[in-house]
Amino acid sequence: MTPLVDTFGRLHDNLRISVTDRCNIRCFYCMPEEGVKFEPRENILTFEEIERFVKIAVTMGIRKLRVTGGEPLVRKGLPALIRKLVAIPGIQDLALTTNGVLLAQHAQELYDAGLRRINVHLDTLDRERFKHITRRDDLDKVLNGIELCRKLGYGPIKINAVAVKNLVEPDVVELARFGRERDIEIRYIEFMPLDAQGIWERDRVLTMDTMIAMLQREIGPLEEIPDADPRAPATEYRFKDGVGRVGFIASVSKPFCLNCNRVRLTSDGKLRYCLFAIDETDVKSLLRSNAPDSAIVEAVRSCVADKWIGHEINTQKFVPPPRPMYSIGG
Ligand code: 5AD
Ligand code: SF4
Repeated sequence: MTPLVDTFGRLHDNLRISVTDRCNIRCFYCMPEEGVKFEPRENILTFEEIERFVKIAVTMGIRKLRVTGGEPLVRKGLPALIRKLVAIPGIQDLALTTNGVLLAQHAQELYDAGLRRINVHLDTLDRERFKHITRRDDLDKVLNGIELCRKLGYGPIKINAVAVKNLVEPDVVELARFGRERDIEIRYIEFMPLDAQGIWERDRVLTMDTMIAMLQREIGPLEEIPDADPRAPATEYRFKDGVGRVGFIASVSKPFCLNCNRVRLTSDGKLRYCLFAIDETDVKSLLRSNAPDSAIVEAVRSCVADKWIGHEINTQKFVPPPRPMYSIGG
């Protein structure tokens, strides 16, 4: 089949699958504290539907999968889905992004199902700040989950930290030290306008340049790693002393849209060509109306064909997407 290339010549081989919009914590840059409106369960794709979709996507050149949420581990039986996805011929890479709260409970099962790559979302090692950010007191659970994953032999393990100015400055260096001691890459993600309450402001973005300066001042010189995969969103650096690496997802200060190779499937079966997309393509109705594979192929093609050159966070035209992060999947 002809490869999935958009009108800007970008090849798409990467699919992010959100398996639920529910979450067991309430990070303020994503969810409101109370009264979150979740999708009714009947709207959430079944594992069989997801598997069928991925099998079709693989024929179109999708090679890499990332399972996200909400919090994917609140989806019952997730290891069964992982097992199905790992077994699909053509899938070369599968990773899971989790907030880590339920990781200690499920790490073994997930490993047995074939999962090896894991990104744990963790912004701080400080219990009070963790409580402030997530509105839950679960830091120890997350840390235990990470420890267990290390023991089980997961690799690489990465930590995603959302970089919010006037809040996490003390954590930038602490997390990098934590990572250096454990061979875990810390990925700092600039705070993006994807929160449910519309609190994002440009002034609250802690930028990559600021964080690099902090790390170099407190820990030591960094050097950029010549990019192994130029289409990956993170710009990666290593410490010149040879211990540890950090990555930056500088969506706001240095958009990387020109390298985009991603499409996203939401838990309610909508295909999105961008985190910030306004329009989406409904694949759930196709999956549920016995549409032939060719109709799904067509839907994926048309979604990719609609891709814009990049998000417009930095322009006057920017309109935040109608769904917040937890319902898109990171
Ligand atoms: N800005 C940047 N990153 C965010 N995430 C959630 N909300 C935001 C936001 N507003 C990140 C979380 C999670 C990933 C899927 O998205 O850290 O790891
Ligand atoms: Fe949950 Fe992730 Fe949103 Fe935090 S960022 S509330 S962990 S979905």
